[in-house]
Amino acid sequence: MTYPAHLLVRNIGTLVSPAGAGAQRGADFGRLDVRHDVEVAVRQGEVVHVGPAGSWRDGADRTIDAAGRAMLPALVDPHTHLVWGGDRLDDFEARVRGESYEAILARGGGIRHTMRETAIRDEDELVATALPRLEAMVRAGAATIECKSGYGGDVDVERRQLRAVRRLAAAHRAELVPTMLFHVPPGDAALRAGWLEHACRDFIPAIAAESLAIDIDVFVEREAFTVDEARALVTAARAHGLGAHLHADQFHAIGGVELGVELGVHSVDHLEASGAAQVAALAASRTVAVVLPGVTLHLGLPPAPVRALVDAGAIVAIGTDCNPGSSPLFSMQLAMALAVRLYRLTPAEALVAATVNAAAALGFSRTGRIVEGAVAQFVILESRDWRDVAYALGGDVIASTLTRTAVSDS
Ligand code: NIG
Ligand code: FE
Repeated sequence: MTYPAHLLVRNIGTLVSPAGAGAQRGADFGRLDVRHDVEVAVRQGEVVHVGPAGSWRDGADRTIDAAGRAMLPALVDPHTHLVWGGDRLDDFEARVRGESYEAILARGGGIRHTMRETAIRDEDELVATALPRLEAMVRAGAATIECKSGYGGDVDVERRQLRAVRRLAAAHRAELVPTMLFHVPPGDAALRAGWLEHACRDFIPAIAAESLAIDIDVFVEREAFTVDEARALVTAARAHGLGAHLHADQFHAIGGVELGVELGVHSVDHLEASGAAQVAALAASRTVAVVLPGVTLHLGLPPAPVRALVDAGAIVAIGTDCNPGSSPLFSMQLAMALAVRLYRLTPAEALVAATVNAAAALGFSRTGRIVEGAVAQFVILESRDWRDVAYALGGDVIASTLTRTAVSDS
């Protein structure tokens, strides 16, 4: 269904939106505006009115009756690897039996397995397998979804993955944000220096020339890229107008967070191995700390020091990290519910982390609130109490996700 140019959502029992403007941190983190018996008008995908019941007098092409239930900003997923080929069920079993994620990667499985499986799929197949994942994500409340490549390793497969993202974006009602991910370097150490030079000189310009990504990301880790390699990649990307993120401190704190803060990247993601020094660096910066509860659960890693990050004043966001190896999680709603349990966030903090702060991780400032001038993306819950969004572990909590281009009733 096409989103009508003029939409009115009426009979909203409770409307919840992060208070203030921009990302929230410190004493502000978790502050919500909660209003009762309101209606919201939208024109051309933008919120133009939030007021008491009966206050909108300019008419609408379509009216949605929220039936007294709760409405929130749609959730923002700032970190996914949505497009991949094959599966990782053998790895999953190996891990259940006790082999570690890093050991599987070091023996050529894990990410490298998915790279081989992705390389043998054409663009049509990559689109076809990603589409149901995307639909699941939207049904679970996300309307803005970041999508990384990174299972290519060479420019042709990376391009194929990012072209698949572009086709999904054109065909689907969600807003997709494409990122080119440098995931792992060539396995053969002798090829590494030449490959890096080739990535900076050829890869990045080729992707930028086709506008296939708006940002890059680099996995900074012992089994992946060094700090110096990541610095070279981010510097080359910026010269072509691309922003940056880093996968940092997932297994070892080898300097990824410090590099991200020094370079002022949009976000550093993971942080399971971060300690006091990394917390302090993030608290003093504008780089968003994206934490990934699906990884905490699926890999059984120690949780990122989320309470310490919040208390120190860092900007904290939540993502699914949807991917076949470390987090087969397709629901931002469930990511919020897990973050409350695993990180001791309050429901209000989890909502802020999954809306305005997640939008800030993507460099967006008009997404994640329901105020005049905001991007019109909403979630209507089945419940009258908004806290159900951070409470339920499964079940049908979300009645509908209203994206900028369509209304879907799940
Ligand atoms: O964010 N850590 C690196 N990348 C992904 C995992 C990708 C995979 O295992 O396929 C992550 O956890
Ligand atoms: Fe990731």
